[in-house]
Amino acid sequence: MTGFNLEGKTALVTGASQGIGEAIARRLALQGARLVLAARTADKLEAMAAEIGETGGEALAWPLDLSRTGEIGDRLKELPEPFNAVDILVNNAGITADNIFIRMGQEEWDRVLNTNLSGAFAVTRALARGMMRRRWGRIISVSSVVGMMGNAGQANYAAAKAGLIGLSKSLARELAPRNITVNVIAPGFVETAMTDRIPEKQRDGLVEMIPLQRLGTVEDVAWATAFLASEEAGYVTGHVLNVSGGLYI
Ligand SMILES: NC(=O)c1ccc[n+]([C@@H]2O[C@H](COP(=O)([O-])OP(=O)(O)OC[C@H]3O[C@@H](n4cnc5c(N)ncnc54)[C@H](OP(=O)(O)O)[C@@H]3O)[C@@H](O)[C@H]2O)c1
Repeated sequence: MTGFNLEGKTALVTGASQGIGEAIARRLALQGARLVLAARTADKLEAMAAEIGETGGEALAWPLDLSRTGEIGDRLKELPEPFNAVDILVNNAGITADNIFIRMGQEEWDRVLNTNLSGAFAVTRALARGMMRRRWGRIISVSSVVGMMGNAGQANYAAAKAGLIGLSKSLARELAPRNITVNVIAPGFVETAMTDRIPEKQRDGLVEMIPLQRLGTVEDVAWATAFLASEEAGYVTGHVLNVSGGLYI
């Protein structure tokens, strides 16, 4: 195995059905972790779990809707052994509902804050207790450079992503005595379904703003996550790791 050894650890990744979350889940599995794959689309998760199983890994598909915040705790309590002892939590799931502020409706605000921030809060609260008991844990949330820089047309998304940073920094302080680290990854522009929607002309303009002169790949984000999940990152907590090609410095 190249890189960090996560054998013996159980990881739960939200938004594991595609894009960055899928890459993170596959990377953590390749590094030896047992995986719980969470998102709404059950068939995609099941296909992925089967594939990981066929290649010598261990994964469980666990359909979960983060927007139903009141049900998350109970749903996670139902996780079967040995998948219920989650050591590594990756809060990755996220949605956008962009609009210029003056036209942004309450529903668009609530939907994004609910899934991206309240959903992460509910999952973290459900899983932190077990980590505290076992005195080992890694909580990693996928924010965005937009949470630090702001972005016109994304007031709801930027607020949720900034919220993840405040939540993580507070939790880092609270959970440090239990040997749990809490960190944030802030990707810039990554090639996924989310960025495929950007018109080509605008994409070229974006690349010009990125010192490393390319969009990120899902693997760039997955490797950063594997590091923060590792034993070797045990002295890193409350940190925001930019994976943005220098877009945010
Ligand atoms: N792509 C970028 O350039 C970029 C840059 C910075 C930050 N990010 C952040 O990185 C994360 C992943 O982005 P991505 O580009 O990979 O997005 P994506 O391709 O749209 O995937 C989003 C994932 O979140 C899941 N999800 C959405 N709503 C959910 C809900 N209510 N409950 C559970 N799961 C839900 C989706 O699965 P289901 O539909 O199956 O539920 C999917 O697996 C997001 O938090 C995003 O904000 C992305």
